[in-house]
Amino acid sequence: MKQHNFDEIIERRGHDGEKWNTYPTDVLPMWVADSDFRCPQPILDALAARVSHGIFGYTSNAFGAFEHAAARWMRARFGWDADSSWVEFAPCVGAALAQAVLSFTDPGDCVLIQPPIYPPFRSVTTRNGRYLLENPLVRRDGNYTVDFDDLEHKLAHPRCKLFLLCNPHNPSGRAFAETELLAMGELCREHNVTIFSDEIHCDYVFGGRRHIPFPSLSEEMADISLVAINPSKTFNIADFRTAAVISANKTLRTRFAAGVANAKLGRCSSGIIAFVTAYTECDQYADGVANYVEKNLEYAVARINARIPRLSAHKPEGTYLLWIDCRGLGLNRQSALERFFLEEAKTALNSGTDFGVEGAGFMRMNLACPLATLQDGLARIERAVNGLN
Ligand SMILES: Cc1ncc(COP(=O)(O)O)c(C=O)c1O
Repeated sequence: MKQHNFDEIIERRGHDGEKWNTYPTDVLPMWVADSDFRCPQPILDALAARVSHGIFGYTSNAFGAFEHAAARWMRARFGWDADSSWVEFAPCVGAALAQAVLSFTDPGDCVLIQPPIYPPFRSVTTRNGRYLLENPLVRRDGNYTVDFDDLEHKLAHPRCKLFLLCNPHNPSGRAFAETELLAMGELCREHNVTIFSDEIHCDYVFGGRRHIPFPSLSEEMADISLVAINPSKTFNIADFRTAAVISANKTLRTRFAAGVANAKLGRCSSGIIAFVTAYTECDQYADGVANYVEKNLEYAVARINARIPRLSAHKPEGTYLLWIDCRGLGLNRQSALERFFLEEAKTALNSGTDFGVEGAGFMRMNLACPLATLQDGLARIERAVNGLN
């Protein structure tokens, strides 16, 4: 297969994407977590063939290619011997998080999260009438670790029923080590807490490490957990709204699937085709995009630390998101930091506090873009920082 050209600049303004059509045209968007790369050619070809049929009736929800593709990806990429009968459909990982809250807790129960965290982890909990228990990650020397004493204390809450784990973790960039995952899992097992592991960023794990699907840790861990994946991040196909939730525990997956069915959420052919093609024909693209993004991350970290010393960044272990410590700018309020990036640097990043109070003084930058776009963004930020007193 031909090498994909990740340097290609594709105009996204004037289309319907949120990332490039929210801010004025003089602002460079580096926020919403989709990539600026064209999706793999086999997906485009498969979709074109489907469109040429010209009939778009109701899509079958029957077991088949979708389940085999999800299980194949887990086996081939991460060595987890997932069975296709363990795979359930969800429209997207966000919806799956919400469904997990509905399926595995009752109103008034508590859900544990690890902020700073992707904002829907909070909203799907509170908007569904459940309470949050927070086990903030602890920042030390630029890296984040789990506070296990606090975790144990929170899990012991009699109404704590569900842990929404994010691995690789957005926005900290942690790809948790086996020992950490096992320790978190053991505590959940002791306290009868189900783990819903959002592993949407699984294909972006760097530095020679490999992603560890939570249930692959042991039979005990498989028995208390579900995993959510979506090829959207890796192949830039978020629009197709097709994700998978996988669990070896029949009771857990049946409860989850019943919730999806009760909400009348069904499959669409374009989503299934994109999902299946991604997870069966696009391994080379997945390797290529992770490699390209890793170089972007290394480039950005080196340039920020060398040329913009009032900012500080560490290469994440996973995800294409760079969590930038901006406290050295001396802008005391988060609103002033947000204004600085938008109005002075003319770049749209995500504000750190969108991920929780732990994100005060931070901004999140999306590096899933051509190197030229990244260089433009960093030059804008450098110029603006140099213009500060
Ligand atoms: C950790 C995490 N989970 C879920 C999502 C959203 O996934 P989906 O589009 O499948 O709802 C994102 C998107 O940024 C994410 O970063």
